[in-house]
Amino acid sequence: METVCAEPIVIIDDDKAICRTLQLHFEREGVEIVTAHYAHEGLEKLKKFDSAIVILDLRLPDADGVDILKKICDMGKSYYTIIITAFPNMESTVQAVQCGVGDYIHKPIDINELESAVRNAREFLTVKDEGRDANIAVPPVSSRKNLLMGKSQIMKEVFKMVGMVSLSKSTVLITGESGTGKELVARAIHESSYNASSPFISVNCSTIVDNLLESELFGHVKGSFTGAINTKEGKFTLAKDGTLFLDEIAEMSVNLQAKLLRVLQEREFEMVGGKTKLKADCRILSATNKNLEQMVKDGEFREELYYRIKVISIQLPPLKDRAEDIPDLVLFFVAKKAMEVGRNIRYVSQEAINHLAAQRWDGNIRQLENVITHAVIMSRGDTLTMKNFIPLLKKQELIESKPHSSAHASGHDAPFSASREGYKPASLNEVEKDQIYKTLAYTKWHKGKTCDILGITRPRLDRKIKKYGILTSSNHFRDN
Ligand SMILES: Nc1ncnc2c1ncn2[C@@H]1O[C@H](COP(=O)(O)OP(=O)(O)OP(=O)(O)O)[C@@H](O)[C@H]1O
Ligand SMILES: [Mg+2]
Repeated sequence: METVCAEPIVIIDDDKAICRTLQLHFEREGVEIVTAHYAHEGLEKLKKFDSAIVILDLRLPDADGVDILKKICDMGKSYYTIIITAFPNMESTVQAVQCGVGDYIHKPIDINELESAVRNAREFLTVKDEGRDANIAVPPVSSRKNLLMGKSQIMKEVFKMVGMVSLSKSTVLITGESGTGKELVARAIHESSYNASSPFISVNCSTIVDNLLESELFGHVKGSFTGAINTKEGKFTLAKDGTLFLDEIAEMSVNLQAKLLRVLQEREFEMVGGKTKLKADCRILSATNKNLEQMVKDGEFREELYYRIKVISIQLPPLKDRAEDIPDLVLFFVAKKAMEVGRNIRYVSQEAINHLAAQRWDGNIRQLENVITHAVIMSRGDTLTMKNFIPLLKKQELIESKPHSSAHASGHDAPFSASREGYKPASLNEVEKDQIYKTLAYTKWHKGKTCDILGITRPRLDRKIKKYGILTSSNHFRDN
């Protein structure tokens, strides 16, 4: 008999005939087989192994399948679970997938199908164990809400600004591309202010039509317009002495801009249809991804209001300008999302982190967060690797085969690709980052060979690696 050194298989099924058949089948391959007919017994036996393939019946006499799955997941070891069930339904499938199950097989068992699932399991466990050294541990989830991550110089400046402005009551204009964290920064300012226990009220000026926005902001008295059945307080009143966050302020009509300007000047306002003057005590924070200065020049935004709302301004950088923050953001989001969806993900492979750091992220942090959420939901086991991200990045058309990167693969292609549909020009920085990443991957992270190919010195390569956030842990690199 051929002896194969492979992970043990733990079969947990109350159907004794199935256990016996599978045991005989797999023992022929020389694999250690352990069987159990009850959940508690199965879990007890499983504990002995650090790595194992678990064949699990979802309906057991003493426990619910999903509960067992969660327990297996929480043990935090290298287990790969194959579910077998006679009662497939969407709900249990979804729950099983959420618990990180490896495969799903229906009864009656097709032995070929099961064998193929076991092969997948072995492949999965082997890759994972080999890759252990190059995995980065996911940190514990921070209990702080609205935590702003980032240690790049540019983000340190942002944090300093947040600290400085939070203790005054001045208006702050937060600008930056979509998904760069404008709202999060507004919340952080509020939370570090003296009035943190007062309300933080957010109004998105782009989602409400103009006359409704006016009543939304200032409130209205009963009967002031059709539909005003009751008197309603506006956001200025609700914000009390807290913060009123005017998101996408560039979308506000010029007419309403004039009214807002008056409130900022006089610190007083009237409800729509009302006569009484009400006090505006809140601090105003605004945000936009538009170029307000240009809008002022074009007569689309009132100059006076512009200067009133941007007594202080904070400009948030796009993610591609602070790629060195990406590794921390990845680990932070993995920890957060895994907790939210009840997964035990303990590692992210170094290779995956490097790859994520080399993407362009046109949708900034929100896009990165979305990709990680998907990867976490769809993951199996306790480690996220390239396999988990590649399909998602492909879907988002972020993968390296963008026209700008094919340009340096075959030089003369570039001028032609410029006229092709879908071509997106890249900055020199982006091209450089892309090329460094690819060369490092090509040399299997050998810095010396990478320098030779790129024709640059080691210190220069090190600086670039840092600048573009490619370095996350020294153990990935082979140093000579
Ligand atoms: N520095 C950061 N650390 C951790 N998470 C962040 C950071 N910046 C942003 N995020 C997260 O990224 C997502 C997008 O942030 P946010 O909604 O604040 O962006 P935005 O600039 O307001 O985007 P939009 O212009 O599309 O409204 C949020 O889930 C937020 O929690
Ligand atoms: Mg926003």
